[in-house]
Amino acid sequence: TLPLDLTGRNVLISAGGTREAIDPVRFIGNHSSGRQGYALAATAVARGANVTLISANVGFSGPAGVDVRPVTSALELRAAMLHERDKADIVVMAAAVADFRPDTAAVNKIKKTGDTPTPIALVENPDILLELSRHRGGVSPQNQIVVGFAAETDNVVENGRAKLARKGCDLLVVNQVGQGRAFGTTENQASVLAVDGTVTEIEHAPKEDVADRIWDLVVERLPA
Ligand code: C5P
Repeated sequence: TLPLDLTGRNVLISAGGTREAIDPVRFIGNHSSGRQGYALAATAVARGANVTLISANVGFSGPAGVDVRPVTSALELRAAMLHERDKADIVVMAAAVADFRPDTAAVNKIKKTGDTPTPIALVENPDILLELSRHRGGVSPQNQIVVGFAAETDNVVENGRAKLARKGCDLLVVNQVGQGRAFGTTENQASVLAVDGTVTEIEHAPKEDVADRIWDLVVERLPA
């Protein structure tokens, strides 16, 4: 039997990877599949939560019972998160957000000219997780739980700690990446760092099982 320990909780999750337009047909993107975020949405529903999923360019359909809102770019994802977070008890930033976007998207398709190509000027995107963590919203802002993700290739715990402190979230789920791990696969493994100093290792398992372990850690921290 499933624990219905998220009953009545409003959960907001971002998933997938943002696309930053270069021109009408091209973008800067990343390899995030959206699978871990969708697994979090499906398992939260199974545990009784009301789930809103802000979905960036995910190539499959949403879990039953989830309110899916599609977005494309980091700025759209940010607007959707800021709009929805005011009714959220728990916010999870599982999306891979582009750090940079082209300063302007060309109105027409960029063509070859035979000359040296024009460089694409980039500007930094806002750090959505940092913003959501540092300025909490929701029905009860001091009780809202914010969860971030991080992909690290080395010194997972050490780098994760610094990132947790910088972003200001309650939990940081750190995936070791490289060597074919995490991205695009159906399984995952993670170290979850908490602001109280604890580190929880989640063994290599299907992304649904990893999601359930993450919810266990969130539930422990929910106000009564
Ligand atoms: O800084 P880094 O990209 O490693 O942090 C990853 C975490 O921050 C993820 O939870 C991701 O969703 C979030 N993020 C964000 N806005 C950005 C970049 C990352 O919310 N511009």
